[in-house]
Amino acid sequence: MSTMSQSNNRTNAGQPVGPRRAQSNRTSSGSSVVSGERDSDLRDTLRTSGSSSLLNTLVETNGLVKSFREEAPPALDHLDARVPAGAITGLAGPDGAGKTTLMRLLAGLLLPTAGTIRVFGFDPTTEPEEIRARIGYMPQRFGLYEDLSVIQNLRLYAELRGVIGEEREASFERLLTFTDLKRFQERKAGALSGGMKQKLGLACALVSKPELLLLDEPSVGVDPISRRDLWKMVQGLVADGIGVVWSTAYLDEVELCDSVILLHEGKKIFDGPPKELTDRVRTRTFQLKVTNNRRKVLAEALRSPAVVDGVVQGDHIRLVLKEGSSSDGIERFADDKQLRPVAPRFEDAFVDTLGGLPKEESLVAGMMPHRQHDGGSVIEANGLTRRFGNFVATDHVTFSVKRSEIFGLLGPNGAGKSTTFKMLCGLLKPSSGTARVAGIDLRTSGSAARNRIGYMAQKFSLYGDLSVRQNLDFFSGVYGLQGERRTSAIDRMIHAFGLENYLGNPSGQLPLGFKQRLAMACALMHEPDVLFLDEPTSGVDPITRRQFWLHINGLVDKGVTVMVTTHFMDEAEYCDRIGLVYRGKLIALDTPESLKRSVQSPDLPEPTMEDTFIQIIKRFDAADGQDKTNRR
Ligand SMILES: Nc1ncnc2c1ncn2[C@@H]1O[C@H](COP(=O)(O)OP(=O)(O)OP(=O)(O)O)[C@@H](O)[C@H]1O
Ligand SMILES: [Mg+2]
Repeated sequence: MSTMSQSNNRTNAGQPVGPRRAQSNRTSSGSSVVSGERDSDLRDTLRTSGSSSLLNTLVETNGLVKSFREEAPPALDHLDARVPAGAITGLAGPDGAGKTTLMRLLAGLLLPTAGTIRVFGFDPTTEPEEIRARIGYMPQRFGLYEDLSVIQNLRLYAELRGVIGEEREASFERLLTFTDLKRFQERKAGALSGGMKQKLGLACALVSKPELLLLDEPSVGVDPISRRDLWKMVQGLVADGIGVVWSTAYLDEVELCDSVILLHEGKKIFDGPPKELTDRVRTRTFQLKVTNNRRKVLAEALRSPAVVDGVVQGDHIRLVLKEGSSSDGIERFADDKQLRPVAPRFEDAFVDTLGGLPKEESLVAGMMPHRQHDGGSVIEANGLTRRFGNFVATDHVTFSVKRSEIFGLLGPNGAGKSTTFKMLCGLLKPSSGTARVAGIDLRTSGSAARNRIGYMAQKFSLYGDLSVRQNLDFFSGVYGLQGERRTSAIDRMIHAFGLENYLGNPSGQLPLGFKQRLAMACALMHEPDVLFLDEPTSGVDPITRRQFWLHINGLVDKGVTVMVTTHFMDEAEYCDRIGLVYRGKLIALDTPESLKRSVQSPDLPEPTMEDTFIQIIKRFDAADGQDKTNRR
């Protein structure tokens, strides 16, 4: 693996390693943008068969330890693990559990403190040349060249790995189709949306076909439709005998893995087929009918000692019971005691194994003063439009958000969500139309409105060289907090977001989930009236995601208005209303329930939020195609 120097125009350090191989690739492109498959169908079609025990071992670690600092507990603690060929091994665990450290050890980028690693039977520390040509590694933040176009980035990585001629062209065709970046081949990587960058990074990592593929959170920020296509593509590679290690915070993906290694504080706490862990909560998962105040009822239920986890799901809440608890204890939360057992998910077992959700109130919301619920509009977009050259990123978008409302903006990668956010926050000038926050036009008097706004950018935008504490100090100063108010705000944030153990660490080197916690803390410190959260939970573990939502819900109860984007469809359920954007246009706007109802059909009697998202886009595409045909 050649190591490139980090230059300013690269998004980040790290780069894939890969082989020179001239195999043809038999993977299908998975090009259908909208497959419309149901979740369970997807699992059935995608699940790779094959008994791992019969497969070759590609990686074996014994008593593997990695310590970064003597005084701190090791990042990886006596790990025994095995990765077979022809299978996907999932790597899951809460933020900071040691997933990236393991990936980097396997790629030969870190030296172990103790224990052994064998990759293809070789030791990565003493025989790296035997290994590097045979593995592909996609780090969490892939090293794209921002000043190069999409196709130039692909060409560069193909060259580095000796993929040439027809094989190269076939590989580009397949990857551009999967990523839906064909239309944007000439666009500079720096001008892509967050998810499009992630997909281009993946495409670069998949340009050649290694024997072992290490993917560190490849699907962070990738929209649900592309995630399905990504899985199909990787499963195609696996069918050809490649071994994959896939780390993820999306636990629905873990259900698709052949086996999973669950890490917690550097230790392995589970290793086996995901279903084995899921089975531990069988008979403990219930859906309760709750027609009104679902967020409040959920918060109340979560305080009950009998409940370890819970989420809102349409006009229901879904709860996981503590081992040994009976459902009698939760009946009272349901309308007319309407409660039914439902199938468990890996995520339920994950949260349960890690001890369930903490029984805490939101410290952030607790201290926040009450705002008046006057029912007025706080955010107003009117014909909001933004062009980049001839390309229209946001196209005549109109909506308004009332005080104390949670408004979710959903849409595929590159739909225009972040562009809309930036205009609403006064960070980007609209080409036409208006954006008003708290009655103030951001084009003319941005700074007046900005004091009342908290903005969490999609891309980590704090000072990477400053420590966690320095960032908190700095932002509290920027927001004009002083004296006792400043100290107490900082302390509250440290405690609320569990940053105690990281205060001295440079924030640029934090695990992804902790970067997000710090960014959220900095956006909230000055008690803003209006919060813009652009993918706050991307790359964050499920327990912390629930805590983020506990804060958001608590703030909204105090009269704060929230606009949020997410690619976790279960989180869309917390929103009062959802705007769905696609190709710059707002194509649907309603409550989650009404949107779901709008796509209900005999084939889809109980659509999930993900089904709903896919169906609405599919219908729009069909109508748009029809429209274009009529105009010809
Ligand atoms: N400075 C720019 N120059 C050219 N095109 C741009 C620029 N900024 C954004 N775009 C394009 O505008 C479109 C919308 O980008 P945006 O970041 O708003 O998408 P998004 O909906 O937030 O996507 P994601 O889910 O991936 O974050 C994309 O096609 C992007 O490449
Ligand atoms: Mg975005």
